[in-house]
Amino acid sequence: MTLLDAFAGPGRYEAGEPGSPVFILDRLLNHHAVERMNLSRSRVHLVFIERDPARHEHLVSELVAVFGPLEDLPVRVEVRRGEAGKDSLPVLTELGAWGNPILGIFDSWGSVNVPLKVMARIARNRSSEVITTFGPNWFSRREELNADLLDTVFGGRGFWMPAADEARSDERWRAWLGTYRNALKRAGFGYQLQFQLVPRTGQPLYLVFGTGSDAGLRAMKDAMWKVDDRDGESFRDPRNRGGAVAGQIDLFQMEETLDPELVELVTQRLERGDVTVEAVGRWLLTETSRWMSTHALKAARVMRQDGSLVVQSAGKLTNKSVVGLPAPVRS
Ligand SMILES: C[S@@+](CC[C@H](N)C(=O)[O-])C[C@H]1O[C@@H](n2cnc3c(N)ncnc32)[C@H](O)[C@@H]1O
Repeated sequence: MTLLDAFAGPGRYEAGEPGSPVFILDRLLNHHAVERMNLSRSRVHLVFIERDPARHEHLVSELVAVFGPLEDLPVRVEVRRGEAGKDSLPVLTELGAWGNPILGIFDSWGSVNVPLKVMARIARNRSSEVITTFGPNWFSRREELNADLLDTVFGGRGFWMPAADEARSDERWRAWLGTYRNALKRAGFGYQLQFQLVPRTGQPLYLVFGTGSDAGLRAMKDAMWKVDDRDGESFRDPRNRGGAVAGQIDLFQMEETLDPELVELVTQRLERGDVTVEAVGRWLLTETSRWMSTHALKAARVMRQDGSLVVQSAGKLTNKSVVGLPAPVRS
């Protein structure tokens, strides 16, 4: 398999924290199951692309300083100076990556400029996934961005103009993320998830993940629950318009307690009409950042008790039951 980090960065930042290439390689080589992974230089490729010459040079020396000579590692590590948009596909071809799983990480923050055609080529490849990030200022700096570039990234003017026209600043980023999700869908990814990463201090970061596989979808969601919140970091679903950010607690440890984000999202789904619990579960799985199908029945039980959901069908509350919102109270 191949991991492509197309906006790799310098490998280490001024405050000393490791950049993504160092972090990824460290996590892989020191993974508790590393013995069972059968790592080999022909099976596992890590490709890092960085455009800036000084950062590229720094990245190479940082990797060698931390892990030793790259040619002695049990996996193949390629560090290239280049352009993410132009060089990603040629380097994947050169390394013989096609036909085996690829994870593409496009963490540019400010300069989201990778053509949708690159995403579409990765989407067509077996078991492949992409993650694209949008930095905190990306959504407010639209006027600086070039319309022709946006056309290549989003697949055409008609697709992104409605987001550019969104005047409410707290909805603009949601509109752009939704536009990018739709673009990844058109590129061929069956599932697309969106996240807002909320740090304890500083500005949020936005991620869109595309995958074609159920297993990939579940793995990404599981990972969301493992986000380390010791630093106060958490993920928030962009659909969440309430104040509460879902906590990283074991939600169902405490009977009768539901995370406010789950209640808000289930309510949003039911505002569109009555459906089975199973359909709510499917929606939670494919449309929300972290919630799984199994959360639907648990939410329905608790929400029925407090009167925020009604069961429309007869019999016991199960996945087959039809549920809806209570009729509005008339005065
Ligand atoms: C947000 S930083 C990457 C951070 C990195 N993923 C990490 O977590 O440490 C973006 C990097 O992409 C580089 N860059 C900007 N445009 C690029 C392009 N078109 N192709 C490749 N690299 C680019 C910048 O020089 C910068 O180092």
